[in-house]
Amino acid sequence: MRLLKSIAELREARAAAPGSVGLVPTMGCLHEGHLSLVRLARAKSDTVVVSIFVNPTQFGPGEDFERYPRTMEADLAALEQEGVDLVFAPPVHEIYPDDFDSVVEVGSLTRRLEGEARPGHFRGVTTVVAKLINLVQPDRMYMGEKDGQQLRVLRKMVKDLNFAVEVVGAPTIREADGLALSSRNRYLTPEERRAATVIPRALAAARERFGAGERDARSLCEVVRAQLSAEPLAQIGYISLADSETLEDLERVDGRAMLSVAVQIGSTRLIDNIVLEPGA
Ligand code: PAF
Repeated sequence: MRLLKSIAELREARAAAPGSVGLVPTMGCLHEGHLSLVRLARAKSDTVVVSIFVNPTQFGPGEDFERYPRTMEADLAALEQEGVDLVFAPPVHEIYPDDFDSVVEVGSLTRRLEGEARPGHFRGVTTVVAKLINLVQPDRMYMGEKDGQQLRVLRKMVKDLNFAVEVVGAPTIREADGLALSSRNRYLTPEERRAATVIPRALAAARERFGAGERDARSLCEVVRAQLSAEPLAQIGYISLADSETLEDLERVDGRAMLSVAVQIGSTRLIDNIVLEPGA
């Protein structure tokens, strides 16, 4: 496994990389969710590239850029174990030199949910991922369903801008008690960690009601709200039941839909989602 810190080194290594290339973009602090993406990439690609870059432009003022966990040594050990070929871990100025002055922005998909709660967030994500795709030129790029809106936004960018890469979405990996794996789970105190299990419970309750035949979006969201409201440490950011592709709010679930939530537990903001689909 080679660790590359500069764009010049990456370009050289990419030019020499044999066969198909799979890219797993990350911000480090790797957990089983990331490693499941790496395993998918390993199984399908001749060369696996993982990027580790805590991207400052996707954090808003007052968000957790400074305290975002950086665990490079452990990350590299885990990636070596998974048989990764190249790790690209550039310093900030390599990606954003002083005169950097361009953005990549996707339209309406980015104005809802996370985009509404975190203005500018997706502009940062799409700009850095567009750069990574240009640099790595992967055949496939692997992303988790856990960041459901991000996955859809990046698919839209790739389609609209004709990037020659297939975006592969992979299922959310959960703890035994249902909490979705996230690097931000590290911020939770033991009490908050216990409280956070209300999120998968609330989504599971809605799934159960959906399974029993409920199709009214408001009623399904109410199921989630009732569960989340019963947990004193949880503050609801949003509850959304939206078309799985356009992310437009639904009144009824007649096709594939994404039920997503953002919940503040103490000082930590967590997101999660499930897909509901009649007949699936
Ligand atoms: O999901 C993430 O970790 C980040 O948003 C990504 C895709 C690596 C871009 O910085």
